[in-house]
Amino acid sequence: MSLRNVRKLGDELLRKKSRKIEVIDDRILELLDDMAETMYSLDGVGLAAPQVGVLRRAVVVDIGDENGLHEFINPEIVEQSGEDVMTEGCLSVPGSIGEVKRPTYVKVRAFNRKGEEFELEAHDYFARAICHEVDHLDGTIFVDKAENIRPKEVQ
Ligand code: NI
Repeated sequence: MSLRNVRKLGDELLRKKSRKIEVIDDRILELLDDMAETMYSLDGVGLAAPQVGVLRRAVVVDIGDENGLHEFINPEIVEQSGEDVMTEGCLSVPGSIGEVKRPTYVKVRAFNRKGEEFELEAHDYFARAICHEVDHLDGTIFVDKAENIRPKEVQ
């Protein structure tokens, strides 16, 4: 495993649409491993493949609860409901935060690293993190949707 460079706002690659993963080969597994390692190294709660320069539909999420790391290959949000506004940040927009409206519930359909399709229901912060990462796969960054974008105060 190795750390990968995270692309920052202004990098055109972040604005491109990522392609579906057709074959889960060693390169994809290595990508997932590296994404998780990179996310943890930066204290992130999620990371999408385009953020490390790979235009493929893969995301990792770990909101720091007992469920641990979640990997999603070709994720699709197939159901959503509710609405809530919360503060968000992004590893590609370091130092900035803003308020984003997101659903409070989503059902996601995706594939795991074994190529098995699964569905997962997520609520609240977990749902938010998934929506944020899936947005990256279509070139959307949270600042596109955020209000009151401001510097994150250094603790
Ligand atoms: Ni992000």
